[in-house]
Amino acid sequence: MSGVRFEPSGPLRGEVTAPPDKSISHRAALLGAMSVRPVRISNYLQAQDTLSTLEAMRAVGAEVEVEGAGVVVVHGTGLRGAREPGGPIDVGNAGTLMRLLPGWLASQEGRIFVLDGDSSIRKRPVDRIARPLALMGAQIEATADRFPPFVVYGTPLRAITYELPVASAQVKSCVLLAGLGADGTTSVVEPVASRDHTERMLAGAGVDVRRDGLTVSVTRPDELRVPALVVPGDLSSAAFMIAAGVLVSGSALRVRDVGVNWTRTGFLRILERMRASVAGALEEPSDAVALSEPISDIEVTAGPLRGTTVEADEVPLAIDELPLVALLGCFAEGETIVRGARELRVKESDRIAGVVDGLRGLGATIEATDDGFVVTGTGWLRGGVIDAHGDHRMAMLGAVAGLASREGVEVVGMEAAAVSYPRFAEDLARLG
Ligand code: S3P
Repeated sequence: MSGVRFEPSGPLRGEVTAPPDKSISHRAALLGAMSVRPVRISNYLQAQDTLSTLEAMRAVGAEVEVEGAGVVVVHGTGLRGAREPGGPIDVGNAGTLMRLLPGWLASQEGRIFVLDGDSSIRKRPVDRIARPLALMGAQIEATADRFPPFVVYGTPLRAITYELPVASAQVKSCVLLAGLGADGTTSVVEPVASRDHTERMLAGAGVDVRRDGLTVSVTRPDELRVPALVVPGDLSSAAFMIAAGVLVSGSALRVRDVGVNWTRTGFLRILERMRASVAGALEEPSDAVALSEPISDIEVTAGPLRGTTVEADEVPLAIDELPLVALLGCFAEGETIVRGARELRVKESDRIAGVVDGLRGLGATIEATDDGFVVTGTGWLRGGVIDAHGDHRMAMLGAVAGLASREGVEVVGMEAAAVSYPRFAEDLARLG
């Protein structure tokens, strides 16, 4: 199979606007569908994953108007009014949709929903949401109790306190959404903090959301009143441009309008430790539930890097950027180590195996561990061929590796980037 080549690049200069945030777009559409009044969403991500969410919302009875220029208006069904679809709901490649939507649907009494997706989704575990939902009294079924298709028989739910075995914003969000339909107050206890977009959006919609340390609770509201929403730029997409700016010598670039919610900016803190020159007005960590999403431009200048270690408590705050940490580690002085990131094995692909095999094929000195990897920096990367394994973030990782390499990189499966960043190649070309 032939791929797309990314040649060693001269300095990257100028600015690009980060594409809209995928996590927040999914949640905006979902809460819009649950709302009693129409919700206008500006800067909604028009990419495969989030278009799957709009289709899914239509399937359960919401009316969705796409007005162009990123504006989407969702006329919801109200909290308890989801309609039983005529057939399976197709989540495509979207793991976030597969994990969040059942939380809402579980309490839709007397209605049945089947959620299915592509071949990658069928390999991604849903037992992690099935367990807490079952404790709440939900009636659900999964293949071998673990994989999609996932069937939800709507039924009354009871509030629980659930201790997450692994930090996951998707699972936390699923339980909180189920809590909106359960009697009483539902709490989730996280082992370490993960992205809190759901909490912020629910609080903005008038729900009583409380945080006490690592415990977050919601109390069943009568209805959701979601205000107009504006989706910030996606740090996880911007990260590819930021990494390219750090690695390609002579570069100085700016990524505009990036969401800098502190539960998403772990990658920028890791870069700081690696001595990269990256600046922006980042949000400070806080215990309170914020009502909005902060935005900042990020400025990047290329320069030498030092290795660092990423431990388990930092992993959820940088989970989708960890493949880039491995790439940066190749160019850094000393070792770069990521630990406590076993979750990478159940993303759109096994991102520990993919990163280690992929970067080693390009000349990196990198070893897999059970829950991460160890990179020994050499200061350069030869280049070669890398397979994206159908994973958008692996495809974009290969592209950035190509720009920073000596001989260029051919990415097999580059089209996967359209899942989250359809304009990726265009934006890179604008900077090059
Ligand atoms: C997401 C949470 C993360 C992340 C995924 C999007 C979300 O997954 O990897 O791309 O929108 O909540 P987990 O929190 O399950 O690790």
